[in-house]
Amino acid sequence: AAVVEHTFVVSQVGMTHLCQETLVTVVNGQLPGPAIEVTEGDWVAVHVINKSPYNMTIHWHGVKQRLNCWADGVPMITQCPVRPNHSFTYRFNVSRQEATLWWHAHVSCLLGCVHGAFIIRPRHGASSYPFPKPHREVPLVIGEWWQTDLGQIDKSLTNSFFGFNPSSATINGKLGDLNNCSGGLVEEGYVLEVEAGKNYLLRLINAALISEYYFKIAGHKFTVVAADANYVKPYTTDVIAIAPGETVDALLVADAAPERSNYMVALANQPSITNPPFPVTVTRGTLRYLNDGDDPAAAGDDAPPPLGPEMPGLHDMMPSFYFHGNLTSLRLAHPRGRTVPAHVDERLLVTLSMGSVCRNGGESCARGGSIDHSSVVVNGTGEQPQQLYTPLPERPPRPFNFTDRAFIPIGPTEAEAQLEPTRKATTGQRFLYGAAVEVVFQNTAVMQSDYNPMHLHGHDMFVVAQGHGDFDAARDVPARYNLVDPPVRNTVLVPSLGWAAVRFVADNPGVWYLHCHYEFHVAVGMATVFVTEDGPTVGSALPPPPADLPKCGGGHGSSLD
Ligand code: C2O
Repeated sequence: AAVVEHTFVVSQVGMTHLCQETLVTVVNGQLPGPAIEVTEGDWVAVHVINKSPYNMTIHWHGVKQRLNCWADGVPMITQCPVRPNHSFTYRFNVSRQEATLWWHAHVSCLLGCVHGAFIIRPRHGASSYPFPKPHREVPLVIGEWWQTDLGQIDKSLTNSFFGFNPSSATINGKLGDLNNCSGGLVEEGYVLEVEAGKNYLLRLINAALISEYYFKIAGHKFTVVAADANYVKPYTTDVIAIAPGETVDALLVADAAPERSNYMVALANQPSITNPPFPVTVTRGTLRYLNDGDDPAAAGDDAPPPLGPEMPGLHDMMPSFYFHGNLTSLRLAHPRGRTVPAHVDERLLVTLSMGSVCRNGGESCARGGSIDHSSVVVNGTGEQPQQLYTPLPERPPRPFNFTDRAFIPIGPTEAEAQLEPTRKATTGQRFLYGAAVEVVFQNTAVMQSDYNPMHLHGHDMFVVAQGHGDFDAARDVPARYNLVDPPVRNTVLVPSLGWAAVRFVADNPGVWYLHCHYEFHVAVGMATVFVTEDGPTVGSALPPPPADLPKCGGGHGSSLD
């Protein structure tokens, strides 16, 4: 196995879109940042040099970090942040997972601009893909363009995150021609040039802060082959639904009539209720056929107009529900460890809600996201991460009791939100090494109409079931459970007014963040921590942190000066 090395210089640069220059925090001057490409089994070393004015950590989203949560990049959970003018090298191994993941900053809202693809190819080369070898592989990072310094947003977030909206969706940083600004300046959208008859592996990543997207290409279908770096049984669809944090690998065969160009579209399907006036974040790019050789006649003036796809309705969540529900695991690459636990040692019901939480000494109250009616507060107290690891508040595993729920009816009023109290606390859930865990996420819907993409660090989860309404153990278990070939994901999309059930084995000792990947939800506390205890052997115990892990407070870490 090789060591793949990168240097990430994080800094602010001016970028101009929509006739306005905005200061953006990015890696190596690029948005999206550089793609990391590895072969399964490789080691990775990324030297992060923080030239930005913000504290920084980088999270390798979906990389399991076996016995290595120290490289997971969650500030004040697994490390102190890399301060401005400091540096840190993340080192980790990538094993037993393949396909597309991504990396992003895990501070403030900066994941919206500090992000990039993380591509894991099979050990034995492209011919060992469990699908036809693609002619070309194309990372497609779906993002948003914010005409504001995202590093500044979080400071006011607890007071009000109303009114912060992206100006446009983006594909690989391109806005597209729907976004004219005054003076009629038209920005060219993303263009994918294809040759007729060839097949392309699209590696889609949703790096947006607030929107799930529907992705379609007029006149074409996709065959989905992987999600969250786990292969799925080939699934043919004309629409890909992708929520923040999720990745989807899909084959596209360029089999449409080659004499015209076709639109490629990414469209927000969830104008968030928390962001009036319900903006619709759209971008449009082009799939362009190259004729024999590279004669660009297809794009010429006399070419027929591009074809636009028919998109799902604005508030139509069903294509997303079906897309997610139709994926099944291929369970191909590594049968060991890929069996759904048949017996469960721990069962948790986690309610997701938007209650009220007050910060800053109670003076500023905002809508708070919460998990299980408590809210993790992550702040710069100067605690050492290794201290956070040991003395998390003891919280004995709760017995699974579906009858003690008290769901709140929908109603975004302050009074109703108050019915759902949110503690200001840092809580975690401890698991014994090797425990088979089932978590049912239940959206309780106060103050939100969103789907919640719940992301668990350090593990993949078997998504065994999803449904609308309230989960009902007597009705749903095992009738609605797929214990044979459920999709394996690091992010589970919990339907609006619905639920999703996952199983996983707590076999990775360490501290693992669990949170909604909507940045505005996690920023107000829709997060908690799962802690897995050490196992009995050296091979099942978390080693101490690397000596150069950044320290909180002054005088430590590697300064650039
Ligand atoms: Cu992609 Cu904790 O995040």
